[in-house]
Amino acid sequence: MFKTDLFKGKKFLVTGGGTGLGRSMTEKFVELGAEVVIIGRRKEMLDKAAEEITARHGGKVTPIPCDIRVAQAIEDMVEEVWQAGPLDGLINNAAGNFISQTKDLSPRAFDAIANIVFHGTFYMTNAVGKRWIAEGRKGSVLSILTTWVWTGSPFVVPSAMSKAGVAVMTQSLAVEWGHYGIRLNAIAPGPFPTEGAWARLNPNEQDRDWASRIPMGRVGHHSELANMAAFLMADEVEYITGEVIAIDGAQGIMGSGTFSNLLKMTEDDWQRARDAIKKTNEADKAKRTV
Ligand code: HXC
Ligand code: NAP
Repeated sequence: MFKTDLFKGKKFLVTGGGTGLGRSMTEKFVELGAEVVIIGRRKEMLDKAAEEITARHGGKVTPIPCDIRVAQAIEDMVEEVWQAGPLDGLINNAAGNFISQTKDLSPRAFDAIANIVFHGTFYMTNAVGKRWIAEGRKGSVLSILTTWVWTGSPFVVPSAMSKAGVAVMTQSLAVEWGHYGIRLNAIAPGPFPTEGAWARLNPNEQDRDWASRIPMGRVGHHSELANMAAFLMADEVEYITGEVIAIDGAQGIMGSGTFSNLLKMTEDDWQRARDAIKKTNEADKAKRTV
């Protein structure tokens, strides 16, 4: 789908790049020639991911442990990265989440999510963005959100609120920073199986019926999301900025049409409906005087 040297000479940083979707995107960027810095809080996991990715694709992956909830830790980490060479792209992928009834959330529980997704994502974006601005350098920020930024979602309210905030950051800074040559976009994925998300969002495997709520009848493949990320990070589509783009097999909009539930109707049901409507129309027609 892409020329193999698409990202030759580029350096990206992927938060949460050692696991799940972050790792899949990192692999794709490396495969296409980028040097990638991956961060997260677990050093061993990051080291192993970097080793495995470079063993498979060659290239350079630098693992750096950092907690994005701590603004000063980000400042120190980004400075260290910059000393070795400036970044061209930032992928805000790190997140925390769990399902819970909102009435059971303590302030600390809300903060556990908001500190990563809302605060951490802003700290990262500003730490990198201000360096691009100071150096007159172009840059691209891609944030991984959810379709809840448009619809909201029960039982994951701190995540939905925080991700919606990042969607608004994406739009706001696309305008504020556009004239510096800095662009910001976001991806809103539907369900893509990962260990991290499934353990916290489907802990009792209470939901075994994803397919029936996804028009395309399946969950996403990591390669599809990684391809979308590569497309959005490419200089060749530089004019795209301020956008949040869903990749969800139409799951996010399925509930929004009044008649989405009719997907369950069989051909016989449709024939019965057609016959009933015809009967009504003919009865009305018979009563018309003009
Ligand atoms: C209610 C809970 C809770 C739960 C924790 N808390 N789990 N409350 N229900 N299930 C409360 C605790 O009681 C505590 O409050 C507060 O939250 C903080 O708990 P800690 O365990 O100290 O949290 P912490 O160590 O900060 O851990 C943060 C975390 C953790 C988010 C909870 O899971 C984490 O770091 N996760 C990172 C990876 C991750 O979540 N990946 C999934 C991303 S998937 P009190 O008041 O009792 O002290 C995603 C969207 C996917 O984002 C969309 C799919 C369609
Ligand atoms: P994941 O594997 O659990 O990814 C979360 C990553 O974030 C981990 O690598 C974690 O590493 C890192 N992280 C969390 N808190 C951090 C912190 N304070 N500082 C630094 N790094 C931190 O889950 P995933 O499913 O791949 O999720 C990736 C992204 O996709 C998230 O933004 C998620 O909201 C989004 N998303 C996922 C799905 C899905 O179906 N999987 C759907 C929609 C959106 P450490 O724990 O080592 O810090």
